[in-house]
Amino acid sequence: MMQLYYSLLAFTAITSIASSSTLRSERPYDVPTIWVAGDSTTAPDGGHNGTEGWAQYLKYSFGSNAKVNNSAYAGRSARSFTREGRFDRIANALKAGDWVVIEFGINDGGVPRNGSTSTTGDKGRADCPGAGNETCVVVYNNATEVVQTFPTYIKSASEAFLEKGAAGVVLAEQLPANVWESGSYAYKSPIFAYYSMLSVFDLGGPASHVYFVQHGNYAAQAQQLLGKKIVDANYPMDHTHTAPFLADVHSQAFVLGLKCGTSPLANLVVNATARIEALRGPCLPANDTLPI
Ligand SMILES: *[C@@H]1O[C@H](CO)[C@@H](O)[C@H](O)[C@H]1NC(C)=O
Ligand SMILES: *[C@@H]1O[C@H](CO)[C@@H](O)[C@H](O)[C@H]1NC(C)=O
Ligand SMILES: *[C@@H]1O[C@H](CO)[C@@H](O)[C@H](O)[C@H]1NC(C)=O
Ligand SMILES: *[C@@H]1O[C@H](CO)[C@@H](O)[C@H](O)[C@H]1NC(C)=O
Ligand SMILES: *[C@@H]1O[C@H](CO)[C@@H](O)[C@H](O)[C@H]1NC(C)=O
Ligand SMILES: *[C@@H]1O[C@H](CO)[C@@H](O)[C@H](O)[C@H]1NC(C)=O
Ligand SMILES: *[C@@H]1O[C@H](CO)[C@@H](O)[C@H](O)[C@H]1NC(C)=O
Repeated sequence: MMQLYYSLLAFTAITSIASSSTLRSERPYDVPTIWVAGDSTTAPDGGHNGTEGWAQYLKYSFGSNAKVNNSAYAGRSARSFTREGRFDRIANALKAGDWVVIEFGINDGGVPRNGSTSTTGDKGRADCPGAGNETCVVVYNNATEVVQTFPTYIKSASEAFLEKGAAGVVLAEQLPANVWESGSYAYKSPIFAYYSMLSVFDLGGPASHVYFVQHGNYAAQAQQLLGKKIVDANYPMDHTHTAPFLADVHSQAFVLGLKCGTSPLANLVVNATARIEALRGPCLPANDTLPI
């Protein structure tokens, strides 16, 4: 009897070690870091003046299952984040098994213009227009720069992260501005949201550990449910930068989008999907081709 008891104990111990080590076989006692790249809508201290970026709240949905490093930086586009070596710094710090979330768009518009500086022209932020491998050659800050398209920048960064052993990369739609701005609810998906989805397709989608989160759509849904009064009050500075409460809501909207998809990162979320849906709205309808 005792013999059986001890072998049962041993069996239980072995199976629990086995199940925790299948999660991250190389670092059984460490948890993955979720690295976040983005602009002021995502960054620590948001667009300043008391506003905050959504990724500051991401850690609350992962408990002790993951760490979050919010490397987003105000004023950046996919182009300037690349030029300033910010993706490279994430790639250098990233450990095998970590995750990366990339969300850009609000500073990526326009066309690159010759003679721009950090304060004039396109400010070195506009990507070369296009969805493919187009390039634009311009002089920025007195130096010649071969400017790439938005998909080229985020795909190159994603490939570097996967090469370093990232467990996966999430390309997220940019957030909407205040959806109640006109007086009634309105949301139109921007071109960079489409480019993010296209980039996920180009990289091979979930089969290649690259996932799409419809963050813009989920945030718009959450803002619609909150209503005009609360949403207006949470854009204290302009229609782009959020007060802490709405930044937290936008983080929950991201997590909901993640949980409504197939990414293994969703398995590390501490919240039940139904609990998030009750507050922020239901999983959005999806079809088989959507690479979520
Ligand atoms: C942000 O605050 C600074 C001073 O703290 C002020 O100069 C600036 O105009 C403010 N910007 C906005 C957009 O409110
Ligand atoms: C995030 O990572 C960067 C690059 O490794 C590091 O410089 C920064 O201190 C980290 N931030 C936090 C809050 O840990
Ligand atoms: C750009 O992409 C097109 C097809 O999409 C391809 O034919 C062409 O060779 C590519 N050019 C470069 C420089 O990679
Ligand atoms: C910028 O100027 C260079 C010549 O100095 C020219 O080759 C290039 O096409 C110009 N780019 C744009 C976007 O106007
Ligand atoms: C660009 O060159 C001009 C003229 O030589 C110089 O005055 C200016 O400071 C330079 N700007 C930068 C950003 O290097
Ligand atoms: C998950 O629960 C934590 C703790 O209550 C909360 O801070 C966080 O916002 C929740 N996340 C979502 C996505 O609802
Ligand atoms: C699937 O959904 C996406 C996003 O709504 C849409 O762009 C695409 O056309 C849909 N595909 C099919 C086959 O319906």
